[in-house]
Amino acid sequence: MLARVVCGEVPRKHHIAFRDAEGRLRHEECFTRAGFDGPYTIAYHRNRPHAQHVAEARHGWKVPAATPPRGIAKRHYRTQDLAAPGGGPVDARVPLLFNGDVVIGMVAPTGPDPVYVADGDADDLFYVAEGGGVLRSALGDLRFEKDDYVYVPRGLLHRFLPDPVPQRWLSLECLGGVGLLKQWRNETGQLRMDAPYCERDFRLPEFTGPTDEGLREQVVKRNGTFHGFRYDDSPLDVVGWDGAVYPLAFPILNFQPRAGLVHLPPTWHGTFAARGALVCSFVPRVVDFHPEAIPCPYPHASVDVDELLFYVRGEFTSRRGVGPGSISHHPAGVMHGPHPGAYEGSIGAKVTNELAVMLDCYQPLSATPAALAIEDPGYQESFIR
Ligand SMILES: [Fe+2]
Repeated sequence: MLARVVCGEVPRKHHIAFRDAEGRLRHEECFTRAGFDGPYTIAYHRNRPHAQHVAEARHGWKVPAATPPRGIAKRHYRTQDLAAPGGGPVDARVPLLFNGDVVIGMVAPTGPDPVYVADGDADDLFYVAEGGGVLRSALGDLRFEKDDYVYVPRGLLHRFLPDPVPQRWLSLECLGGVGLLKQWRNETGQLRMDAPYCERDFRLPEFTGPTDEGLREQVVKRNGTFHGFRYDDSPLDVVGWDGAVYPLAFPILNFQPRAGLVHLPPTWHGTFAARGALVCSFVPRVVDFHPEAIPCPYPHASVDVDELLFYVRGEFTSRRGVGPGSISHHPAGVMHGPHPGAYEGSIGAKVTNELAVMLDCYQPLSATPAALAIEDPGYQESFIR
């Protein structure tokens, strides 16, 4: 997603014999995207990385199941009321809304992942609303904090070690992959000077060499099912790696917001692009500076997208009755906009302290039974008066 990185020991060229001091051959793992056409990372293992036994899959979250079809309406789901299953993140994820491109859920882990995990279906993008911890992989330890996005590439063997504090993460399982926006790159792939982030705004794994946690079990999610494997040796036996596919953390407050003479559309807040979805970051900022500007978002018909907003904290100028942890879902086909009074009440405002993650989805989103259990039934009517 970002620039190429080299860590630890690597040979001077791809695919040549690379031996340790005793003459033992190291083994390449070519971790490639888009077949062999896309970005890749080559990691060098002490042991053969593909020597694994089939085993029972003893962990994994419940993949989404749709509720019976129902009419479209503005929806509000209170994830702050969600009954969290706890456990490691691999068991604690609760899908809430989904389509063929993205599965939106919440994760409130109460401990570390008890096994290694690889999601063979999707890139995972988390937003850490509360908590922090370490994402461990053979590429190193990636520290993450509250208010970070955490990106885990599809297929990467990893596990999460959350800090022993309350944890609440938004999860976006991006089935067609996720990356930075093309328009924020120049012709070399470097982030443009006028992009809302630069390479230094991201946190990368810290590689310290091979390690053995004593864990040998892995689950791989593929085609919506968890599959179990067992290794004879630690899979974290990498002595060095070289490439452009690795996990990342991005603190949302490193996103550089923009303000205009009048209200700028959400696309200016675009942070990550997934197949069929755009992730936007709304961070505290000065607002529009025309003397008669209406800073509050205008009513609009999202004719192409289902719009989802995850409220992190701050005052939400356009909405009432929502709070930290709320998810609003405004489906395509139904106009939406500010709550009564918010539009006119925003005139003259100089700043907003709202912090939110927005997701525009091109395919209709369906709700899971877990979402229905935390739905606010009065939300649609709350826009009347
Ligand atoms: Fe909207």
